[in-house]
Amino acid sequence: MEIHKYEKWWLVFGTGTLIVFLIILGVSAFHSGTHPNNSKWIINYENVDEIEPFNNPGVHKVEGKDWDYEVVLVAQAFAYNPMEIEIPVGSKVRFIATTKDVIHGFEVAGTNINLMLEPGYVSEKITTLDKAGTYTIVCNEYCGTGHALMYSTLKVVDPDDNN
Ligand code: CUA
Repeated sequence: MEIHKYEKWWLVFGTGTLIVFLIILGVSAFHSGTHPNNSKWIINYENVDEIEPFNNPGVHKVEGKDWDYEVVLVAQAFAYNPMEIEIPVGSKVRFIATTKDVIHGFEVAGTNINLMLEPGYVSEKITTLDKAGTYTIVCNEYCGTGHALMYSTLKVVDPDDNN
């Protein structure tokens, strides 16, 4: 059987792109840790306000855990509670977040913090904030007319800095 020259090229091209895509997928999944939300922590999104820890949103200093702070975050159209987050630089932080209505995003621009918040699920991320600065938090899931207005701020502050 003879395969036409151009057909051979296309076979090589097709197989080649497939391999390239699989490599990209593999690197982002296993090296960069990109993966769909696989949260097994399920809550009733209709009464988030009454369920611990979401009955007390905010930044909480914790003792005796593997991290220094817990950020309990509730999203709803079109805002986050707490509205602003302030953490001392170098702290290990556990973000615990959920939504009261539709799917929202919680992306801290310029970091690897990027959570998808789904109704009925709790999303978590443990990370160390080791670069001081003011970071913008954006909702990166289209959630309605106010989507573009849904943002917040993460301040990673140096306690020795007096301003
Ligand atoms: Cu919330 Cu887009």
